[in-house]
Amino acid sequence: MPQVKVDLGERSYAILIERGLISKLGALVRQALPGAKRALIITDTNVAQSYGEQARAALEGVGFAVFKATVPAGEASKSLAQAYSLYSSCIKAGLERSSVIIALGGGVVGDLAGFVAATYLRGIPFVQVPTSLLAQVDSSIGGKTGVDLPEGKNLVGAFHQPSLVLADLDTLTTLPRRELAAGMAEIVKHAVIRDAGFLHYLESQADEILGLEPGVMGAVVERNCQIKGEVVAADERESGLRAILNFGHTVGHAVEASMGFGGWLHGECVAVGMIAATAIAQEMQVLQEPELRVRLERLLQRLGLPTRLPEGVTAASLSALMMRDKKVEGGRIHWVLPVRAGEVKVTPDVTPAAVQRAIDSIRG
Ligand SMILES: NC(=O)c1ccc[n+]([C@@H]2O[C@H](COP(=O)([O-])OP(=O)(O)OC[C@H]3O[C@@H](n4cnc5c(N)ncnc54)[C@H](O)[C@@H]3O)[C@@H](O)[C@H]2O)c1
Repeated sequence: MPQVKVDLGERSYAILIERGLISKLGALVRQALPGAKRALIITDTNVAQSYGEQARAALEGVGFAVFKATVPAGEASKSLAQAYSLYSSCIKAGLERSSVIIALGGGVVGDLAGFVAATYLRGIPFVQVPTSLLAQVDSSIGGKTGVDLPEGKNLVGAFHQPSLVLADLDTLTTLPRRELAAGMAEIVKHAVIRDAGFLHYLESQADEILGLEPGVMGAVVERNCQIKGEVVAADERESGLRAILNFGHTVGHAVEASMGFGGWLHGECVAVGMIAATAIAQEMQVLQEPELRVRLERLLQRLGLPTRLPEGVTAASLSALMMRDKKVEGGRIHWVLPVRAGEVKVTPDVTPAAVQRAIDSIRG
């Protein structure tokens, strides 16, 4: 079974990638956490319908006392109010320090359940069972957990590494197409920042990816987990290298914020953000392979992602929003710019004129 290890000393864990893993959930959790007797599955309304009972049966099958808490699907559930209500679920389930929380769902469930696991009794183990493509290739790995505040996304959180990540490829078959495409954006991001050969692979296998061909999807998810796992292992708490994962996110977050976080999906915004960062790299003569921009545009479009800003969004409106971003230090934005396929550079040295010209070149 394809397996990726995230190397973090005593907090190391395995990511398993295979079809049908949910049916083996019980045995695998038992193996990873031999002392756990009680399990609380945290999931959302969409995922519960398709996979909730299968997960419960797999855990009960090996003797776990199993409890389930289902939150409404959607970003609004990543709230302190929802975390508060889940603490009650933990208490009702009689969870102890040695018990386990199972995060069964997309990134929203992973971040929320992970945050509850990080904070309940000052931290109990949790297992990620990511069911969206974005969660399988990105959010379930790395230990960032948290909730949103009305003032902004992910403003309250904790680093808490999972004990195990189980990416069941079969779950992708029920994921809506638009959500699937949004996950592809992070896949393309990982290729651009770390692996030119993988970018070629994505270009050559776009049809198979769109058709969810299991062999190809397994390879794609595995390579992504390796890339994200390596970056996280090198910089667990985001003090250096991990910043490269923000490629496409400076403009991407600003686009998301400009639409009040309710318009385009995060991955769609990141897709445009990657084109914006590539255009800025071109303007600043950081980009050594001018053809990368065309390649990226072609690939993202092929995968069903936007490469132009939403109508009405301008450089001026985005600039104000970008200054509020986490990646601003001392009033300067730290940009992640591509140098060539597989290599990016983090730099504050970008002129406002370059940003203006780059944004103008991708206006919708
Ligand atoms: N912790 C991190 O490092 C990190 C990284 C990136 C993103 N995130 C967070 O992840 C979240 C986005 O994650 P997401 O895109 O998975 O969103 P999501 O969890 O909202 O899932 C998207 C939609 O797909 C549904 N869904 C999930 N799996 C399904 C399946 N197999 N079949 C049918 N429907 C399914 C969900 O119910 C939801 O409606 C954001 O909150 C973002 O901040 C966290």
